[in-house]
Amino acid sequence: MSTPAMRTLDPVPSTRSSAAVDVVTQLPGPDEVAAVAVPVAEGAEPPADLGQDSTALAAAGFTGKHGETLVLPSGGRALVAVGIGAVGDVDEASVRDLAAAFARAVPQHTRLAVELPDRDIGLSPADFARAVTEGVLLARWRFRISDSAEDQVLERLVLVTPGEHSEAVVAGVRRGEVLARAAALGRDLANCPAAVLTATRMGEVAQELGGAAGLEVDVVGKDELVEMGCGGLLGVNLGSVEEPRMVRLHYVPEGPSRGHLALVGKGIMYDSGGISLKPSDESHAQMKNDMTGAATVLAAMTALRDAGCETEVTGYLMCTDNMPSGSALKLGDVLQMRNGKTVEVLNTDTEGRLVMADALALAVELDVDAIVDIATLTGACLRALGVDVAGVMGNSSALVDQVRAAGDAVDEPVWPLPLHRRYRSQLDSPIADMTNMGGPNAGQITAALFLAEFVGDKPWAHIDIAGTAQLPEARGWRNKGATAFGSRLLVELACAFERPSGSGAGSGTGS
Ligand code: BES
Ligand code: MN
Ligand code: ZN
Repeated sequence: MSTPAMRTLDPVPSTRSSAAVDVVTQLPGPDEVAAVAVPVAEGAEPPADLGQDSTALAAAGFTGKHGETLVLPSGGRALVAVGIGAVGDVDEASVRDLAAAFARAVPQHTRLAVELPDRDIGLSPADFARAVTEGVLLARWRFRISDSAEDQVLERLVLVTPGEHSEAVVAGVRRGEVLARAAALGRDLANCPAAVLTATRMGEVAQELGGAAGLEVDVVGKDELVEMGCGGLLGVNLGSVEEPRMVRLHYVPEGPSRGHLALVGKGIMYDSGGISLKPSDESHAQMKNDMTGAATVLAAMTALRDAGCETEVTGYLMCTDNMPSGSALKLGDVLQMRNGKTVEVLNTDTEGRLVMADALALAVELDVDAIVDIATLTGACLRALGVDVAGVMGNSSALVDQVRAAGDAVDEPVWPLPLHRRYRSQLDSPIADMTNMGGPNAGQITAALFLAEFVGDKPWAHIDIAGTAQLPEARGWRNKGATAFGSRLLVELACAFERPSGSGAGSGTGS
């Protein structure tokens, strides 16, 4: 149970205020803008307005290497030399990172400016503006649950552009703002302490933010989950004093739809392991983030209207914590899931797949065109791919390709792993349709094979974000702590969605 004091904390502080992003044709004076970025290529002379040549910069240790920064005083404000590496090396992802490096170099400044390059850098003005907006806003995001955060809150970002590009730059800025807002919301939720953000509170937040974003929101409580036969979510919830919630979000585009996509997010508000209790180590200490999948689905769906998404999207947030107690799920218990299949529980720390199964079955009943689920599912995926790249598995090559393309577009990369059918026998149970526990190896694959039991022949892709959900250190636009990796990917995926063909065994990442 959480104390009353904790309940008054705001789990989504980023939604209460945001920096203004303006597009102008003239660089404002020092009274309006306190820091200006000046790109400097490696091995080239810096622009004259920096007031320093390359020898002087080198003496201060600045060579123009990608991401390097040097803050110089000039005319009552800061000029920030930002190293861009070799000329011609720039793409959207590197511009995002460079903008982030700039914003991080002047944490005390609240009003920043970036000028559009005056030569062709192989990136459209709109894409440049979008990347700068995302990079600056995301680098300056902090989880401000209290007022004690050291850095200043960003007030204003100004993009300076020649008049002929203004319209394109404004469009890029707006797109960047939508995506940065989604990511900020995801980060807030994923970083929020579990005692504050219970499943009940998550339902309330979804109701408030989803409603404001034009979504239909349906918060399903315990009694209704019992009626619906959601044995997976209810089973995991058995040990908790907090009630479970399934949140259904529905986005209907204004015009004709490109298709109907279901998004399913793992919402374990806190994963103690249950009776199979985790040791009190560093990885256990991260388990407030075990609802990152649900956070990314909610964050992405609140952005769909503003992003002009033309795809119908139904989201499921499967929320409960996973706790040990006298009433908890026990090893050897058998659960019956929404689609009737039975599962023998051999480890209560393998809980993610149990809550996901019910939602996958519901999405199949809804007869959507495709299902994408996202979950901090396995330590095995963290070990296989590390903290930068998420894993993807699925039964449809077309859908898996769309997930990869969306990840590449927003620099949230995912990489396919084999859905190797022969490992399915590791889940065989003598008394039920399957167990929830594979063997000691390739745990990310047996986890996906478990989920595959609940998607019928619908095109389906599963994103395992156990590795990418947490970063030990801030890097570029990426934050330290819970990252909500996937929030921007899902917006991009929904917007670019095409009905996939070629589902079923033999395609996708199957082997
Ligand atoms: N939430 C964890 C997966 C996880 C581990 C996410 C590390 C992020 C970092 C999941 O519920 C879990 O506990 N998985 C276990 C399963 C095991 C008991 C078979 C794991 O991967 O260790
Ligand atoms: Mn677990
Ligand atoms: Zn978990």
